[in-house]
Amino acid sequence: MEQLTLLNGKEIPVLGYGTWQNVDPSECVDGVVNALKAGYRHIDTAQMYGNETLVGEGIRKSGVPREEIFLTTKIDNVNHAYEDTLKSVDESLRALGTDYLDLMLIHWPVVSGHEEDWRESNIQTWRALEDAHEAGKIRSIGLSNFKVEHLENLLPHCRVKPVINQLRLHPGVLQAETVALSREAGMAIQAWSPLSPISQMKEDAQVLKMTEKYNKSIAQLLLRYGIEKNYIPLTKSVHAARITENAQIFDFSLEAEDLAYLDTWHWDGDIFL
Ligand SMILES: NC(=O)c1ccc[n+]([C@@H]2O[C@H](COP(=O)([O-])OP(=O)(O)OC[C@H]3O[C@@H](n4cnc5c(N)ncnc54)[C@H](OP(=O)(O)O)[C@@H]3O)[C@@H](O)[C@H]2O)c1
Repeated sequence: MEQLTLLNGKEIPVLGYGTWQNVDPSECVDGVVNALKAGYRHIDTAQMYGNETLVGEGIRKSGVPREEIFLTTKIDNVNHAYEDTLKSVDESLRALGTDYLDLMLIHWPVVSGHEEDWRESNIQTWRALEDAHEAGKIRSIGLSNFKVEHLENLLPHCRVKPVINQLRLHPGVLQAETVALSREAGMAIQAWSPLSPISQMKEDAQVLKMTEKYNKSIAQLLLRYGIEKNYIPLTKSVHAARITENAQIFDFSLEAEDLAYLDTWHWDGDIFL
């Protein structure tokens, strides 16, 4: 799997296997095992997903050595603030059955109970991540769903710079200003829910023509689009065949006119950001 070098010199595989909504125990464990079998070396979970224990089990069951895997989790909204964040880092390590995390993110910038004081609460939460990083528990720290105003608030207070902003990104949801500011600050961009447009695109004659032209599925076109945009797409399936299909995106590239079509494609779905 190709890698991208983060601001702090660490490498991250350019495609990740996501685990959101994988709460059925055998589906979650088998999903992780199948992803590692299919060649993924980057797994994304979160405290909020309630499946860290299952993800850890999948990693161990796969037989792939821990050090070959880039493992991410995220601070749950209920753990904002210094002490709760620090405690939750240890809980995540225990649940995942590992003694270090490759990446830990603040999952959301404005959370219930901190609608008024989110500015200070993000600074304190980040300080806890910096301390856990310096203690060797987390190799890289980053952000998720941070938009311009959240970045502008936090960045001047960072002792350790965030290396990632994980955002919802796919044709129809480009978040151009947020992506630009994140990149200016040196962050790499991960893309969540990259396959959202699939059902709408099944009715799109232009996209269907592209599937024939490249001999690739809509899912593969969408994931390749993420790679061409220099995002790190995260994708989830509980089906072994789809997990494999979604990783077969490194043997083609999209031509400029097709990229331009996807860049200006209109998304009819609801936007949950
Ligand atoms: N930071 C955040 O706030 C945030 C928010 C959301 C997600 N995430 C992360 O990003 C990851 C990816 O997002 P996502 O879970 O929404 O994933 P996604 O890959 O965009 O979409 C997953 C959905 O597409 C289906 N699917 C997967 N491969 C397919 C294929 N080849 N053909 C047709 N359908 C396919 C899956 O169904 P089956 O499982 O039935 O195949 C599932 O319903 C998450 O799992 C999570 O780790 C982060």
